[in-house]
Amino acid sequence: MARVPIIAANWKMHKTIPEAVSFTLEILQALNFSGAEVVLCPPFTALWPVTRAASGTPLQVAAQDVYWADQGAFTGEVSPLMLRDAGCTYVLVGHSERRHLFGETDENVNRKVKAVLRHGLKAILCVGETLAERDAGGTNRVVERQLNLALKGLGMGEAAGLIVAYEPVWAIGTGRNAAPEDAQAVNFFIRELIRNRYNSEVADQVRIQYGGSVTPENAGLLLAQPDIDGALVGGASLKVDSFKLIVQAA
Ligand code: PGA
Repeated sequence: MARVPIIAANWKMHKTIPEAVSFTLEILQALNFSGAEVVLCPPFTALWPVTRAASGTPLQVAAQDVYWADQGAFTGEVSPLMLRDAGCTYVLVGHSERRHLFGETDENVNRKVKAVLRHGLKAILCVGETLAERDAGGTNRVVERQLNLALKGLGMGEAAGLIVAYEPVWAIGTGRNAAPEDAQAVNFFIRELIRNRYNSEVADQVRIQYGGSVTPENAGLLLAQPDIDGALVGGASLKVDSFKLIVQAA
């Protein structure tokens, strides 16, 4: 089954509103959007300006995080309702920086995934092992735990629209990407977990990205792997030129 590759630009805590809007306008000029879905993940402050700039185009917008309640006394948090209101279609959930720098647990991730889906948004669920976990041979075990807990209570229909991003923590922002065959092996493992948990139809439909030091130089080989259906790009997504080349590689 052919899955449309999905390439997402995770800007993290970068770009002012004018910078975000000019990137958006430039990438719209530079790409023809055939053959790949393209998603920008600006910081919260730039979500609405970017969705305005991208409105009526195939370019999609994601938030980098969300809180699970619709509204309430949660100072500093942003709800899925608000993200929809700002024009988002996707939300990153469980990025390793959220897990490791901000103490996000698997249970938090599960609540966020459910909240995102409840509001008709789509989740990009990030999973991945640390270097110590990989060195101890624990990659599959960690990824399986993160996936199972994130998907707890999710039905077949909800799971089918999911995007999973496999992002080994040791590869994020380090310039050291996973070898294409190693990333492929984990992405295949994730697909088999989904097959066992749901069924083959869902497993073949779910798109599984790779993220961690993706560059224009390594994107081609990574994206050529049968179970790598796209990329979640950090550093190389901050410049139109390098991000464009990665999209074109897909
Ligand atoms: P990187 O970040 O491409 O800079 O390694 C990827 C990510 O954190 O999503």
